[in-house]
Amino acid sequence: MTVQDIPAGLALCTAAGWNQIDPDWRFFLESPNCGACLAEKDGRPAGTVAWIRYPGLSWIAMMLVDPADRGTGIGSQLMKRALDAVHGDPCVGLDATPFGEPLYRRFGMIAHANFLRTRALIDAAHLPPFTGGVRPMTPGDLASVLARDREVFGADRSVLLRSLLARAPESAWIARPAGHPLGYCFGRPGRIFHQLGPLVAEDRAVARDLVAACCSRLDGATLCIDIPTHDSTWTEWLAGTGFAAERPFLRMFRAGDAPGGIPALQYAIAGPEFA
Ligand SMILES: CC(C)(COP(=O)(O)OP(=O)(O)OC[C@H]1O[C@@H](n2cnc3c(N)ncnc32)[C@H](O)[C@@H]1OP(=O)(O)O)[C@@H](O)C(=O)NCCC(=O)NCCS
Repeated sequence: MTVQDIPAGLALCTAAGWNQIDPDWRFFLESPNCGACLAEKDGRPAGTVAWIRYPGLSWIAMMLVDPADRGTGIGSQLMKRALDAVHGDPCVGLDATPFGEPLYRRFGMIAHANFLRTRALIDAAHLPPFTGGVRPMTPGDLASVLARDREVFGADRSVLLRSLLARAPESAWIARPAGHPLGYCFGRPGRIFHQLGPLVAEDRAVARDLVAACCSRLDGATLCIDIPTHDSTWTEWLAGTGFAAERPFLRMFRAGDAPGGIPALQYAIAGPEFA
């Protein structure tokens, strides 16, 4: 797949009700150690898959087949191409929808953790307040954020976080930045909704502050946050703030691979596309 194929990728995303826009596809096609594949049937686009080889974690995403062509083996061929692209890498993962999960299991992926997409229409008049310890992130904060993110995420996703800060500075916030940051978040616009994530914080109070700060700049927008489900207090706080549960994801890794990082400090993922 090349940048000339982005309209085809976007058409497949739109047909499936997915949220990606041009810069999302561009990230896969123009970033180092990333790539994507387009399947064609009878000369027309029929499916896609993409991958990111972060140092320490290879991520498979954008697995999407035209509804008219499903169940004919295209998804399996795309998955094989993606696994070939990351062959030999130490850890390979993806976020599965219920549609994709059986196929991924056949390719040796196993369940690791459950995530939930939550969605809210932001109403600034009813937002929780946030403390003065949170402020907009600047490029000068990136070195400390990227260093902490390598520990908490367990792999080096600097290329993604730099691109998110450039794309959507209004959604990038940092908590108590002196030295070791207590938390940070990034976000991005989309076709249907704005997405907040990743969000990393030392505790729930910092995570709440970061969500409230981000929402303060998104009055009237629809915002999604993809969260782990193991912390019911976090899920309940978001529900009380207006974030309704929308759909599940299953995070899967290749059997035998061991993801690193500190999952308890990851309050929102970057989204199923980007890990
Ligand atoms: C998930 C998805 C990509 C699978 O693509 P697909 O092209 O339908 O996948 P395949 O045809 O290779 O496999 C689907 C099933 O058809 C079966 N199949 C494959 N070739 C077949 C053939 N020639 N005839 C009949 N059945 C066939 C497979 O065994 C498979 O069965 P399984 O689901 O029990 O494993 C597709 O359903 C999709 O785009 N869904 C919506 C988007 C989505 O949720 N993507 C996953 C994101 S994680």
